[in-house]
Amino acid sequence: MLSEHTIQIVKSTAPILQEHGETLTRHFYQRMFKHNPEVAPFFNPAHQQAGKQQRALAGAIAAYAANIDNLEVLGGAVELIAQKHASLMIKPEHYPIVGANLLASIREVLGEGATDDIINAWAEAYGFLADILIGREKQIYQENAKKTGGWEGFKPFRVIRKEQESRNITSFYLAPADGAPVPTFKPGQYITVRAATPNGSTTMRNYSLSDKPGQEWLRISVKRELPPEANTPAGYVSNHLHDTVEVGDLVDLAPPCGEFFLDVSERHTRPLVFVAAGVGVTPIHSMLSAAVEEFAERDIILIHAALNEEVQAFRTTFGALAQRHRNLKVYYRYSDAPANNTRTGNASTGLVTAEYIESLLPGRDADYYFCGPQPFMVSLYHGLMQWGIPASQVHFEFFGPRQALEG
Ligand SMILES: Cc1cc2nc3c(=O)[nH]c(=O)nc-3n(C[C@H](O)[C@H](O)[C@H](O)COP(=O)(O)OP(=O)(O)OC[C@H]3O[C@@H](n4cnc5c(N)ncnc54)[C@H](O)[C@@H]3O)c2cc1C
Ligand code: HEM
Repeated sequence: MLSEHTIQIVKSTAPILQEHGETLTRHFYQRMFKHNPEVAPFFNPAHQQAGKQQRALAGAIAAYAANIDNLEVLGGAVELIAQKHASLMIKPEHYPIVGANLLASIREVLGEGATDDIINAWAEAYGFLADILIGREKQIYQENAKKTGGWEGFKPFRVIRKEQESRNITSFYLAPADGAPVPTFKPGQYITVRAATPNGSTTMRNYSLSDKPGQEWLRISVKRELPPEANTPAGYVSNHLHDTVEVGDLVDLAPPCGEFFLDVSERHTRPLVFVAAGVGVTPIHSMLSAAVEEFAERDIILIHAALNEEVQAFRTTFGALAQRHRNLKVYYRYSDAPANNTRTGNASTGLVTAEYIESLLPGRDADYYFCGPQPFMVSLYHGLMQWGIPASQVHFEFFGPRQALEG
């Protein structure tokens, strides 16, 4: 347990660290990559570039400091971080590296304000949180290794099928190259792809499993990331997969992880509402495919938002599922103007707002699962909070470090 003295110091210095949060974490990453370049391949440079990872870490430190005497409230955050770390093979030996650079950064950013007492308290608090994460990550590694078809670390999978789902989304069907069984996973979870980089290193990306569990493959469906503006590089791994990975090729995968999943053991009758935007449809497709088989007695509603029909994936599959399962209703919402005024029935033009969702539901009380870009997530989250939906019924995933929803 942390001493009362440490708790007092961490709580009293939390506001100062929060004030300097992003400066501190930016400094921390620069420092760590300079002093310990061996950990750089774990991190996605694009997340650093956009400041997302710095904000996620600053937010985690602030939340930890504010709740240091009531850590139960951080349970969800700890699980999210542990699953992310386990997906990237973060191991106990990496924690002292992060700890040393974080404490040195606190000293360097706070200057004379960082007394030995403060640094010692934060060192103890860091060690305490590190032990919680290390413990949970160890369990995840063990669970992933011991299940049928499970493994630890990266293992080669062969591409057995490559299929274009829309103008910019392509699916890769992956089977273990060693002939082992395909492991089960929870619908909504993601795997990690490791790819070689031109400088002789490697880089990792998470991809949600887009098919339901129990198939003879793990399937990922990847959107080609174009440069956001002139003179910026195109997305590295997504373009590598689209352009150079073909049927017969090997791809290194780490086991399924993630805390955004459909709990098929739940036995209540509330409607299930799935809302996806763009390529955020991948975990939703997996969950929906499992849900229609598990929950014949529940109303299930899918809303898929996309720019237009050309970039929308899985429309045919969703249509077929709705044909087969009377309890499933499917709606498409496009933000681009319609081509040839062809949208009728369950397809409409506009944004996905709380009012739009409400117009499709039998009632507000439902379990909500959503995934898409930040503005979409913020708007949906606000709507659900205003309706008073309990947090336990609201589930979402960011395709990157968790970003603010309250903003
Ligand atoms: C849990 C989870 C699940 C995911 N599931 C899926 C999924 O199912 N399908 C899917 O397609 N994606 C998914 N993603 C996203 C995926 O992990 C990758 O982030 C995505 O494919 C982009 O990776 P990339 O290597 O192509 O792009 P990156 O190289 O990481 O670049 C990302 C973006 O930043 C831009 N960029 C890169 N470098 C710079 C720079 N120096 N300056 C300015 N801009 C820059 C790129 O053009 C690109 O738009 C998921 C992510 C997470 C965390
Ligand atoms: C107590 C210590 C730590 C805390 C509180 C912490 C916190 C976090 C948080 C909040 C995220 C973002 C999760 C998300 O929203 O997806 C994250 C991601 C990550 N962490 Fe940690 N972390 C710790 C230790 C470590 C260590 C020791 C390493 C090893 C080098 C590490 C490597 C990573 C990586 C690679 C990511 C993903 C980054 C990306 O998306 O580019 N972390 N961590």
